[in-house]
Amino acid sequence: MTQDIVCRRLVGRTAVVTGAGSGIGLATAHRLASEGAHVVCGDIDAAAGTSAAESVGGTFVQVDVTDAAQVDALFRTAYETYGSVDIAFNNAGISPPDDDSILDTGLEAWKRVQEVNLTSVYLCCKAAIPYMREQGRGSIINTASFVARMGAATSQISYTASKGGVLAMSRELGVQFAREGIRVNALCPGPVNTPLLQELFAKDPERAARRLVHIPVGRFAEAEEIAAAVAFLASDDAAFVNATDFLVDGGISGAYVTPL
Ligand SMILES: NC(=O)c1ccc[n+]([C@@H]2O[C@H](COP(=O)([O-])OP(=O)(O)OC[C@H]3O[C@@H](n4cnc5c(N)ncnc54)[C@H](O)[C@@H]3O)[C@@H](O)[C@H]2O)c1
Repeated sequence: MTQDIVCRRLVGRTAVVTGAGSGIGLATAHRLASEGAHVVCGDIDAAAGTSAAESVGGTFVQVDVTDAAQVDALFRTAYETYGSVDIAFNNAGISPPDDDSILDTGLEAWKRVQEVNLTSVYLCCKAAIPYMREQGRGSIINTASFVARMGAATSQISYTASKGGVLAMSRELGVQFAREGIRVNALCPGPVNTPLLQELFAKDPERAARRLVHIPVGRFAEAEEIAAAVAFLASDDAAFVNATDFLVDGGISGAYVTPL
């Protein structure tokens, strides 16, 4: 999808992408690089992260986003390698099977998801903002989800709560630092056509159908469509877009009934 893009909105900017080894993060690393950014790819998975960085001519940093020192090192590497930290796409997240209905989800599963999905965003913002304040410029995009806005009976309770936290934190940071030239937005994707989702739904077409009926567009998103939204939020085209829950959900959250 990105092959014909001629947009070059990010020339000379430095972007840090967490979870760059796969899915939305990988597609976004490609998109940001295609728009001219230097991309620093952070991932816990060294093989996937290295391959992502090579494919975008960027730099790989192995990072566990729940570890404050490693997160600091990720942003420091970006600054020391390219001279600035202009864009932070704090995107790494997990959705493990033991996070389910509140009736079945244990405290350990709850805490792990909070750490990886929410504490990580706190750590990444805390690491990125001082560079951005110094520059008087920056765009932070934190990956939340449409489930931060809507309830689902097919619950993943800690995941949903973590994404609600990402949304509220992003809003508050966007307000606090707006006059210093820093924008902070939460990105709320609808379900994305990732290998994980494909595998799940290939096994259980009924579950797929149950979800698809709620999407006015009638299909899941492609990772490149989410990446395009990130590139917009990262760029000066979004200069007045701040502290939002930026929905890229094919109309799910606006639908009462769908044109089935
Ligand atoms: N896929 C969807 O349908 C969907 C919908 C809405 C929101 N999201 C969110 O988008 C983000 C990316 O999702 P995806 O589908 O691309 O996932 P993915 O599983 O394809 O990729 C996630 C990446 O994060 C990395 N990662 C996991 N734990 C990490 C850690 N502790 N430290 C560093 N890296 C770590 C993984 O190695 C992987 O490369 C997540 O925050 C997810 O919650 C996804």
